[in-house]
Amino acid sequence: MGKTMKVLGVSGSPINNSNTDRALKVALEATGLETEFIKLVEYNITPCRACIGCVETNRCVNTHDDGILLAEKAKAADALIVACYTPYSSIDSLTKAFIERLYQLRHKHGFMAGKPGGAIVACAIPASNKALPPACEMGTNAIMYYMLEEGMNFVGSVKILGNVPCIKCGYGNECRTSGLRMIYGNEATVQSVGINKFEEQQDALDAARALGKKIAGTLKKKA
Ligand SMILES: Cc1cc2nc3c(=O)[nH]c(=O)nc-3n(C[C@H](O)[C@H](O)[C@H](O)COP(=O)(O)O)c2cc1C
Repeated sequence: MGKTMKVLGVSGSPINNSNTDRALKVALEATGLETEFIKLVEYNITPCRACIGCVETNRCVNTHDDGILLAEKAKAADALIVACYTPYSSIDSLTKAFIERLYQLRHKHGFMAGKPGGAIVACAIPASNKALPPACEMGTNAIMYYMLEEGMNFVGSVKILGNVPCIKCGYGNECRTSGLRMIYGNEATVQSVGINKFEEQQDALDAARALGKKIAGTLKKKA
């Protein structure tokens, strides 16, 4: 009997039970395989220091955080789904630090090469708002380009419309710098915008399930 395939899902969203997390869990579940869900905020992860100390051993020399542990999990997994949110329109720093620390798996062996991978990204700026940065696209590109640079098989992405923090900060209707008005116009209020939920976005729900199934299908073909 062949080895059980395992899919690792890593979320950089620090928000408790966020849209990002829930979408990742749907994608993992849809694989029908063994999975592990990691919430990076529960780990200690710092950026790559570009010291190249991992060249000979494929093991980071920074032993003061969880960079080695997380890289070992990625190396052991057969597929990887990376999920992020997009503060200031780009990939969040926990996700970026995680990706940078996977550099230790690159040298000479390319331990991530050939593995199927996918991206899940939540942003508050709808793609239809052309006056503001395309946050979901920028987040997706960051994850996709990591995977392509490592020779992974990028199979797809999920874009979720999440929530601007001003919706729940308590000052969303009167704050001079409210993101609600920035995104939805001067008349926008906490009440008129409402809370965006991943489960109510059929396209995103379908895309998350499709991503999980595509990863499982790709692994099956490889086996
Ligand atoms: C500091 C900060 C800055 C943010 N800046 C942006 C931004 O520039 N563009 C954007 O689309 N969303 C921005 N967001 C909103 C997040 O992308 C949003 O919280 C995301 O949808 C995840 O939330 P959720 O999973 O709870 O929906 C920002 C959030 C924070 C906390």
